[in-house]
Formats: sequence, C-alpha cells, structure tokens
Amino acid sequence: MRTYNIAVLPGDGIGQEVITESVQTLTTLTQVHGGFRLDTQQFDWGSERYLREGAMMPRDGLAILERGGFDGILLGPIGDPRVPDHITLWGLLLPIRQAFDQYVNLRPIRLLPGVQSPLVGRSPTEIDMVCVRENTEGEYAGVGGRVHQGTEQEVAIQSIVFTRKGTERLIRYAFEYARQHGRKKVTSATKSNSMQYNMVFWDEVFGQVASDYPDIAHEQHLIDSLTARFVSRPQSLDVIVCSNLFGDILSDLGAAIAGSLGLAPSANLNPQRSYPSLFQAIHGSAPDIAGKGIANPIASIWSGQLLLDHLGEHEAAAMLMLVIEEVLAAGQVRTPDLGGTATTRQLGEAIRSQLKGLS
Ligand code: IPM
Ligand code: MN
Repeated sequence: MRTYNIAVLPGDGIGQEVITESVQTLTTLTQVHGGFRLDTQQFDWGSERYLREGAMMPRDGLAILERGGFDGILLGPIGDPRVPDHITLWGLLLPIRQAFDQYVNLRPIRLLPGVQSPLVGRSPTEIDMVCVRENTEGEYAGVGGRVHQGTEQEVAIQSIVFTRKGTERLIRYAFEYARQHGRKKVTSATKSNSMQYNMVFWDEVFGQVASDYPDIAHEQHLIDSLTARFVSRPQSLDVIVCSNLFGDILSDLGAAIAGSLGLAPSANLNPQRSYPSLFQAIHGSAPDIAGKGIANPIASIWSGQLLLDHLGEHEAAAMLMLVIEEVLAAGQVRTPDLGGTATTRQLGEAIRSQLKGLS
C-alpha cells in the first residue's frame, strides 16, 4: 500500500489541540479511503523546548527533517508570550521555509457554505480565490542588522531581497496554478508607485511571465487599494500573486472575509519536491484560549487536506474537502469563532463521523 511519512510538529499554544484533530481526521480518512497509509512521527519542537533547552529545535533539526525521508510536514502554530516572536519564528518556521526552499505559500481563501462572511450578503461563489505568496525571500529574507543599539545613533536596517530567480519562479507558479485549476485571472499585488526598485522589478517580471500565458488574464493592483477591493469586490479576484509580506497581510484579511481565521489553511510548497513541503494553519498559537479545547481545528484539518493533494492523493483530498463543507453547511457543530459552542474535539469528531458515512 502507498505509505507516506509525515513529520508532525504540534508547535505552541492551541497547536497540540488542533493538530491532534488533524492527525486523527487524516487517519480516519485513510481507513475510509483504503488506498494509502500515513506514518506519522511527532516532534516536540517549539517554545516549551526553547524555555527548557534554549533552542526551538535541535541544532541538526533541519537535517533530521531532511534525512527522515518525510513526504510532508504538518505544523501547528508557533509563538508563546514568554518568548519574543522573532526568536521563536526564526528558530523554527522561517528557517524551514528557507532551507527547504518552500518558495510558494499557497493560501486558499474561500467562503465555505454555511459560514457567515462579515461582508453583508456575500455568497461562497463570490469569495473564492487563491493567494500565491512568495515564501523564502522578499521582506522576510532575513537580511539586515542593527548598530549602536540603545543609543541615539541607533540604526536598524531590514533589507528586502528580490531575486530574478525567486520572483520569476513564484509568478510562473501562479500562472501554472491558474491554468491547471481552471482559474481565469492572476492579479499581482504591487507597490511600484513608491518602491521604485524591487516593485518596479516585480512588475517587469510579472509582465514577462504573463506574456507566456495568453490564456490567463492578468492585471496588477497596488496593495493598498487591493486591500479595499478584498472588501468591496472580492468576487473580482481569482489568483493573487504577491510578495512575502503582502501575502502575509492579505491572507489574514482573506481569512477574515471568509468568516474566521480558524478556518484558513496554507501549504508551504517546494514544487520541485527536492525537500518536504510544510502544511500549517495560517492562524497563530492563540495563547488566550490555549488548553480550553475550543479552538477551531478546521484550519489544521484543511491544511492536512492540502498535504494530501500535494502527495497526489487527490481523491482522498476531495473526500475530506467535501466533508468539511458538509459539516459546516449543516451548521450543527460550530466552535466559538463561528458563533457556536462546540469544542475542538466535537468539531473534529463531527468531521470524522461524516467521513465514515462516505464508506
Ligand atoms: C503566517 C505567519 C508567519 C508569517 C509568522 C508566524 C512568521 O503569520 O504564516 O502567516 O508571517 O509568515
Ligand atoms: Mn500571517
């Protein structure tokens, strides 16, 4: 039987709660589907480890993930109020994205049936887009420095790095994605009116790549006014291609208009498959509700669904998506972020029992 090795890193805060539901749901799915198996290996890397041992992951953590022969990584949220966020994130998530060349961050933004958008009167067909976010360079290149710290002369520089290779492959991925998924238009998020080097370069590369895809419409839109368009005309957006930071911001906005941050998934992809790809909810570790068992597990379950798609298990992925939609549409079991009173476990169970009904 096809067997996939999956590294599971529950992370911090609500991570353990939501990742447990994701793993259990994927396991149920393998039983219902019958065509493949998932072997999971858990790693306790994260802020507790940092507080205990002074590092988020072992010194050879990346090598462990690389040598482990993993077909994918399922990650929970990272972040703990006791540790500065840049320490936790540069200690785990951001080095994995860079070292494993996960240069695409794919973020579906969909209003699912039965979920209420805060935008009055919007239906699922009107909020249905995909954000293709650059994920290894740009504003998150990690290049910069500080000098004269704590003095009046202090200088802090965070350099934005756009390479031709990095920009072109990302934009090309967006057009290929559009073509393969029957999407009609790619919108580029830009800011070339004020950023005359990196963003003018970005626009040029976008134009060059777009000319290879005459079958896909393309346009560029300034990021500030694009945020307004998310709210006023989301139905006019299809595939959005954007830099690392712009995509980070747009995807939280997207999650909000799609009804809840607790639903939104993401795939950090190495399209060449030279390294494992990583799948994670886009939400944070929510320390305020950690341990209460009320976090919405769907963002992590849907991220598991993206993992299956990446593995080529399209039939199983479609089954899981169908069931997530059915459970939300039925509206019986909802966590507090969706206006209900269900627990994390109850929503996970509802999805699993619906899955079992498929067999
Ligand atoms: C996300 C997160 C991360 C990001 C943080 C935690 C570094 O917000 O995946 O959207 O900015 O990429
Ligand atoms: Mn984010």
